[in-house]
Amino acid sequence: MTRAIRKIKKTLKAKPTLEGAGVRLKRVFGHPENPQFDPFLLMDDFHSDNPEDYLAGFPMHPHRGIETITYMVHGTVAHRDSMGNEGKIHGGDIQWMTAGSGIIHEEMPARSEPELWGFQLWANLPASHKMMPPRYQEIKSIEVPELSYQEGVTIKVISGEIDGIVGPVQDIVTDPAYLDVTVQAHMVSDLPVKTGHTCFVYVIGGEGLFAEDATEKISLETLVLFDEGDAIRVSSGDAPLRFLLISGKPIKEPVAWSGPIVMNTAAEIEAALKDYQNGTFIKR
Ligand code: CO
Repeated sequence: MTRAIRKIKKTLKAKPTLEGAGVRLKRVFGHPENPQFDPFLLMDDFHSDNPEDYLAGFPMHPHRGIETITYMVHGTVAHRDSMGNEGKIHGGDIQWMTAGSGIIHEEMPARSEPELWGFQLWANLPASHKMMPPRYQEIKSIEVPELSYQEGVTIKVISGEIDGIVGPVQDIVTDPAYLDVTVQAHMVSDLPVKTGHTCFVYVIGGEGLFAEDATEKISLETLVLFDEGDAIRVSSGDAPLRFLLISGKPIKEPVAWSGPIVMNTAAEIEAALKDYQNGTFIKR
């Protein structure tokens, strides 16, 4: 089968940002890039070997209208929320939270390993699901299948499906695929992506080429957003390459965005802020 290899639409370098109660992290994309990443709203890369960069954490804050997916590479983040969930996620674990009609939670990185490294991705919810009941799930690293896609290419399937292997993060409304791909040196590989889905990669190790006739090497902490097609082509150089391959179905609705609350209209944002002030934010 001949595949239509996607071309590169644009590349972005993650930018240093201060978030939460004073966490130094890198924003891969966010509000200014909206709506190019529809259905995704934001992605952060928190990576540091200095606890002063992250111990302030993200104390209690609300979310409404979105889903967040946190994927840890190293270190520990403790979590607590208004639904009574409490837990710690460690390297390789995933936390998937549907804020829906409203959740209030805290996410606190802990001093556990020399290095803290993880990613948080925000997936938008369509109008029909913005006020759905909140839900929360933790997935342990051992539950994430690792696929040997071809010789020299291994893929941890976090969500979505490839070669019949289905990731454990399921039922996210925008049907995302979230793959952690490692490509050994001097390899070329075509990876399938659903037609019509927004697709990007984010390099987390080494460097590589990400299109058929690409000449510009894409390196650490750089994102590539792709045009249409049903596959991407990746080529590694002299060293192994590791990247996150993420795709999802665009929602194509108006976005009204205020910090951790993302709705369709300004009136819905106002109602959410009023709910928060009045102590009526949590609906279920
Ligand atoms: Co949060």
